[in-house]
Amino acid sequence: MPHATDSEQPAKAAVDWQFLGVPVRSFNVEITNRCTLSCPECSRTGNPWVRENLTQLPLDLLQRLFPLSQRGALAGLKINLCGTYGDCIYHTRFHQVIAHFKAAGLSVMIETNGSHRSRDWWKKTCALLDHNDSITFSVDGLQDTNHIYRINSRWEDIIRAMEYCAPRVFVSWKFIVFRHNEHQIEQARELAEKLGVRDITFKKSARFRDGDDPLKPKNSAYIGVVNRNRRMIREVRSAGLPPAELDRRVAIRQNCFSGKGLAITALGYLYPCTNCESADTATWFYRNREHFNLRKYSIQEVLTSSKWMELQKLWHKASTAPGICAHTCGVHRDFQRSYSKAARCDRPNKPDDVIRIAF
Ligand SMILES: C[S@@+](CC[C@H](N)C(=O)[O-])C[C@H]1O[C@@H](n2cnc3c(N)ncnc32)[C@H](O)[C@@H]1O
Ligand code: SF4
Ligand code: SF4
Repeated sequence: MPHATDSEQPAKAAVDWQFLGVPVRSFNVEITNRCTLSCPECSRTGNPWVRENLTQLPLDLLQRLFPLSQRGALAGLKINLCGTYGDCIYHTRFHQVIAHFKAAGLSVMIETNGSHRSRDWWKKTCALLDHNDSITFSVDGLQDTNHIYRINSRWEDIIRAMEYCAPRVFVSWKFIVFRHNEHQIEQARELAEKLGVRDITFKKSARFRDGDDPLKPKNSAYIGVVNRNRRMIREVRSAGLPPAELDRRVAIRQNCFSGKGLAITALGYLYPCTNCESADTATWFYRNREHFNLRKYSIQEVLTSSKWMELQKLWHKASTAPGICAHTCGVHRDFQRSYSKAARCDRPNKPDDVIRIAF
């Protein structure tokens, strides 16, 4: 089955959506912030704001943002259904949403924990997808370990889904390496091959905490560049340095500058990336959220608004950048070189902290 990966896909979207001069090539659309799992380091887990704002994007809003009348112009644009606070398979009108995206000429990348959906549900899903689409299952371990991080997951559902989907669409397995599964890399690779998935990616998490985090792998090969850099950024930002000194040590390398993965949140806001939506009313993105509201403005209006332009100036310095940008995309001077070395050429500001095996 031919399949163009993100990095091979030519930038041929003809709609005139630009991100500060870069053509927009994909959106990370969080169609719902619902989920049935409670992964401990997920932004939704234990977050009262998510509980109070449980929602999903209405089908008619998605139809307005990506209209069928623009089908030709939307060709080549990717919709990545990953998000930050939820899992797309729990949108109550999931199949109608996918049917619309496909009718509008978009390609779809589903990313999910794979639990609590029946074989019939997956049958319906695969029937809507074609060779431009993909499903990534986030499965961090095997039958005896996946549930340790993926709390409430159901192994039998996941395996049934992977077995059904793998011969029909492009299926990937994403495996975050933790202390409790780091000994299962080879077994997971063998199972992936047996299930017929197209690749398995061992992901180095950036979310390990300082000190003795029980999730942190013992093998330092599974601790990535981003995690090490973030630890340093936290230290520097909490040291109360004068702005000029902070700016000497930290630069902002905006991952969003690649024109990939602009975020449409479950609440209906368009942001440069999924990290911008936050419960914290003090953040720059929260305070300015009405400028990013897709119920008020079109995608084009948000992308050309003065607020969007304002960001460009704020990013010039770590001391003026929104806090989430300094946290997520701030790079300490000691890590500048390793960031450049570990980045993909189509995403020069983001190290690819993964080990990927294709079959
Ligand atoms: C909020 S999830 C949404 C997609 C889907 N629910 C899932 O888990 O795949 C967004 C991404 O965060 C990843 N993720 C969750 N916990 C993580 C961790 N501790 N470290 C790194 N990535 C993590 C997920 O694997 C997924 O790729
Ligand atoms: S499955 Fe995804 S959205 Fe759900 S809790 Fe885990 S990481 Fe978060
Ligand atoms: S955190 Fe800020 S700088 Fe980084 S990708 Fe998101 S919006 Fe861009």
